[in-house]
Amino acid sequence: MSIFIKHHKANNILTISLNRLDKKNALTAAMYSELAGILKSEVADINAVILTGGSDFTAGNDLADFLDNPPTKSDAPVYEFMRALSDCPVPVIAAVDGVAVGIGTTLLLHCDFVYATANSLFMMPFINLALVPEFAASLLLPLRVGHVKAAEMLLLGEKFDAATALRYGIINQVCEPENLLATATVTATKLCTKPRSALLHSKALLRRDAEPLAQRIEIEAGIFSAMLTTAEARAAIHKTLKR
Ligand code: COA
Repeated sequence: MSIFIKHHKANNILTISLNRLDKKNALTAAMYSELAGILKSEVADINAVILTGGSDFTAGNDLADFLDNPPTKSDAPVYEFMRALSDCPVPVIAAVDGVAVGIGTTLLLHCDFVYATANSLFMMPFINLALVPEFAASLLLPLRVGHVKAAEMLLLGEKFDAATALRYGIINQVCEPENLLATATVTATKLCTKPRSALLHSKALLRRDAEPLAQRIEIEAGIFSAMLTTAEARAAIHKTLKR
C-alpha cells in the first residue's frame, strides 16, 4: 500500500481513499496502477466499494506526471484503472468533497451511487487543455444530462456545483461534510444485506450496453428464471410470504 492510496475492508465493504491532499489528490500513473490493482484483486468477497478522497476528491490527472508519462497506449495505468472501475462487478459508491476535476468528474459516471457536499466543485476542463472527453464521457454524459447540458459541461469546460450535479442526476444527494462518509456507508451497508448474486446480476444488467427491448426482456428472463430456482431465492420468497 502506498502513502497516496489507502484501502481497507470491513463488513463486506471495501473503502479506497485517495490520500495526496497537498496536491488535491491529483492522480499519477503509479496511483492509477495501484487503484486498478486494488479494484481487480479486492472485490471477490465484498458487496460494495466506497471511493473517497477526504477534503478533496481529486483534481484529476497529475498534470506534470501526465506530461512526463502521457497515457498513449490502451494498457496505460489510467486505462487499466478506468476499465477496472467500469467493470467492477459490485456497486461503487463515490463520496465527494472539494474538487472533482477532469477524471474526477468523469469517473463518477462509472460509479453507481455518488454523494457529495455543498463544497464540491465539478469540472471537465478537457477543452481548455486542448483535449477531448475521456472514458466514454461523450456518450455517458449526454445520456445522463441531455445534449445541451453536456455541451455546456464538455464544450465550455466550466465548473459546476453540487446543486447542479444533483439537478442533472450526476449525484444522488448533497450531504453535510461531516455526514458524507456516513451516508455512503449507510448505502454500502444496505447493499451488504442484499443477496450477492442478485446484486451482481442487477448491476451488470444496469450497466449493460443497450440492445433492442425484446432482446433485453429475453436476457433478463433467462437470468430471472435461473435465479428463481436457487435455494437463496426460494428462501427469500418464503420469508416474504411469512411477513
Ligand atoms: N496536477 C498536479 N498538481 C495539481 C493538480 C493537478 N491536476 N491540481 C492541483 N495541483 C497542485 C497544485 O499545483 C498545488 O501544488 P503546490 O501547493 O505545490 O503549488 C496544490 O495542488 C494545490 O492546488 P491549488 O491550485 O493551489 O488549489 P486551488 O484550490 O487554488 O485550485 C484546482 C484547485 C483543482 C481548481 C486547481 O488546482 C486546478 O485547476 N488544477 C488543475 C486541474 C486539472 O486541470 N486537472 C487535469 C484535468 S485533465
